[in-house]
Amino acid sequence: MADITISIRDNGPYLVRGGVTVADAEGKSYEVQDVIALCRCGHSGKKPFCDGTHKTTGFESAPRAE
Ligand code: FES
Repeated sequence: MADITISIRDNGPYLVRGGVTVADAEGKSYEVQDVIALCRCGHSGKKPFCDGTHKTTGFESAPRAE
């Protein structure tokens, strides 16, 4: 099995690294070969992917595991 990691960026997207398939609610799928950024702020113009809009919207989230 390929190594897959999901990194949560402070005030930004989820970075997914590794060979995975991302599927949206309608079943449309996207193959991820290397790295992809998934929008976490809800403001991206190309959801489910991050387009950098979080930087201009003031999105703030920096969760930490307990
Ligand atoms: S997290 Fe980057 S546009 Fe939403």
